[in-house]
Amino acid sequence: MATEMALVKPISKFSSSTPIFSNSRYGKFTTVRMSSTSQPTTKTAAKGGKKAAKTAIKETLLTPRFYTTDFDEMEALFNTEINKNLNQSEFEALLQEFKTDYNQTHFVRNKEFKEAADKIDGPLRQIFVEFLERSCTAEFSGFLLYKELGRRLKKTNPVVAEIFSLMSRDEARHAGFLNKGLSDFNLALDLGFLTKARKYTFFKPKFIFYATYLSEKIGYWRYITIYRHLKENPEYQCYPIFKYFENWCQDENRHGDFFSALLKAQPQFLNDWKAKLWSRFFCLSVYVTMYLNDCQRTAFYEGIGLDTKEFDMHVIIETNRTTARIFPAVLDVENPEFKRRLDKMVEINEQLLAVGETEDIPLVKNLKRIPLIAALASELLATYLMPPVESGSVDFAEFEPRLVY
Ligand SMILES: [Fe+2]
Ligand SMILES: [Fe+2]
Repeated sequence: MATEMALVKPISKFSSSTPIFSNSRYGKFTTVRMSSTSQPTTKTAAKGGKKAAKTAIKETLLTPRFYTTDFDEMEALFNTEINKNLNQSEFEALLQEFKTDYNQTHFVRNKEFKEAADKIDGPLRQIFVEFLERSCTAEFSGFLLYKELGRRLKKTNPVVAEIFSLMSRDEARHAGFLNKGLSDFNLALDLGFLTKARKYTFFKPKFIFYATYLSEKIGYWRYITIYRHLKENPEYQCYPIFKYFENWCQDENRHGDFFSALLKAQPQFLNDWKAKLWSRFFCLSVYVTMYLNDCQRTAFYEGIGLDTKEFDMHVIIETNRTTARIFPAVLDVENPEFKRRLDKMVEINEQLLAVGETEDIPLVKNLKRIPLIAALASELLATYLMPPVESGSVDFAEFEPRLVY
């Protein structure tokens, strides 16, 4: 998995203050904790033996999540005795591709990393760290889910199970590479602790399929867009991790293709009116989450020479076009009304964040939030209800019930 996905909810804070990152293993590194406050906390830390500002991660409803699912239902879905639509030869071909392991030797670091990190100063340094932390958490979230699916499906469907295990290998590599990147900034995520301390969001299998498919494809488009942009504008290449995105994003693309094959094998998740409604809902959740998240971090995108909104719209449009090949309905993201509504949501979200920053007592803050939440909800609903684009693969025809004369 390469990107964060959260159901869009307007309030920007969790009530938890559970520490999720610990420095117990990393003596000289900074401790990074999840904080319930809206203000970053500052502590003393060592930076190459000197003092450096410490960061606190704000866990919000837009923070990358960890997922869990109904594994018994998953087993039934991939049981070849029960599901005759499972095209085992397609999965075997995909397995061979995963076994080839194109990126086995790709993620090798060099001394450019540390040198580049040392040159990143001021607010951009903080925002870079946050980018690495969030990306690492999102990749690690994929690792955990795929690893468990690989374990649980071993008996029922060894081919599908092995693909999940190999995808978890990829995600572990991605998360590990990002975590090494954090070490350039004298930080580290304690992923073992994160696994235990983090709350898991439960999704039924069909929702896992929609969400992870979109997450992989949007991740592909994000990485490739950043890669191409920096190749054309090398003056913004301020940290070498982006040079790895070209091959990296191919992993995400393959992961997405695997979910596409999984969805085709479960036509009941794609061929009725409910599937259309859910498809649109997940598209909306993923696109809005990304847009609101990124618009809160424009300094990062501007730091690498991108216009945040233009970048996001490009990623959304491309992801939506890719998704239209498999989902039975998608949003009409190329209609200017879609972007207008997204921008309106950004404005409302900014007002909501501003309420959180005030000195008011919690009750007053909550009262001030009510009309804003209502406005955001109505914007979301209006966007959801925009006339959709009917889509889906022509392959489907063979799965549709037909009249036999
Ligand atoms: Fe990944
Ligand atoms: Fe992935």
